[in-house]
Amino acid sequence: MRLDGRVIVVTGAFGHLGREVAREVLAQGGKVAALDLGDGDVPPGARAWTVDLASLDDTTRVLAEVAGRFGAIDGLANVAGGFRWQTLDESVDLAEWTALHRLNLGTCVTASKAVLPFLQRAGGGRIVNVGAMGAVKGASGMGAYAASKAGVMRFTEALADELKLQDITVNAVLPSVIDTPANRADMPKAKHDRWVKPQEIARVIAFLLSDAAAAVTGALIPVTGKT
Ligand SMILES: NC(=O)c1ccc[n+]([C@@H]2O[C@H](COP(=O)([O-])OP(=O)(O)OC[C@H]3O[C@@H](n4cnc5c(N)ncnc54)[C@H](OP(=O)(O)O)[C@@H]3O)[C@@H](O)[C@H]2O)c1
Repeated sequence: MRLDGRVIVVTGAFGHLGREVAREVLAQGGKVAALDLGDGDVPPGARAWTVDLASLDDTTRVLAEVAGRFGAIDGLANVAGGFRWQTLDESVDLAEWTALHRLNLGTCVTASKAVLPFLQRAGGGRIVNVGAMGAVKGASGMGAYAASKAGVMRFTEALADELKLQDITVNAVLPSVIDTPANRADMPKAKHDRWVKPQEIARVIAFLLSDAAAAVTGALIPVTGKT
């Protein structure tokens, strides 16, 4: 599952999972364009770009810079996203709900749309999205999040079908609660050793980005550690 010379765009690359995906791609010989909001650290060897994935124009401009610098783009890992627990009853207004839709599904669709011409120019490529086990079945307080991540999962299947004759695969990993400092702080009494580690998810994403996964498309792969 080596990624030698492959140019991989990682969104949300300053976050917990994104940083590990960037590290794993570099460890497998790939080149990393790390996209995120604001400023943040990226592993040595990765090149960072600041962009708000809410804007298709800005994302397209940044990807043109990435292709100019590295010569091509071979793959996209859509890691940007986030979580908020909120019940419909207690939500002050519906903007709180649509915000999660934009954060999870919107960023994924925008980056996929922007990268498509570059993958087509390369003669094929890989898109890997991040869904969530928490979106397989809804639960109280999870409505907006589960709906947005279920959107990512259906979008993954649809885009995989749309692109299957172009040698562009589209898959998603479905993590359960990830062992991050933020989750440990929010759930201090949980069994942290059972949670899936960011590095473990990153390895599955790297596999899906590699030649070894050429025949896998439209898959939604649970990555759940010991939960
Ligand atoms: N953590 C979990 O337990 C868990 C479980 C299942 C699935 N997931 C999914 O896994 C992915 C990574 O999670 P994580 O815990 O690593 O999250 P994280 O640490 O919050 O990282 C997400 C990154 O995405 C960035 N981002 C958000 N909106 C953006 C935009 N419009 N344009 C560019 N960058 C943007 C964030 O920037 P800012 O911080 O500046 O907003 C942040 O750096 C997410 O899609 C999440 O939904 C996480």
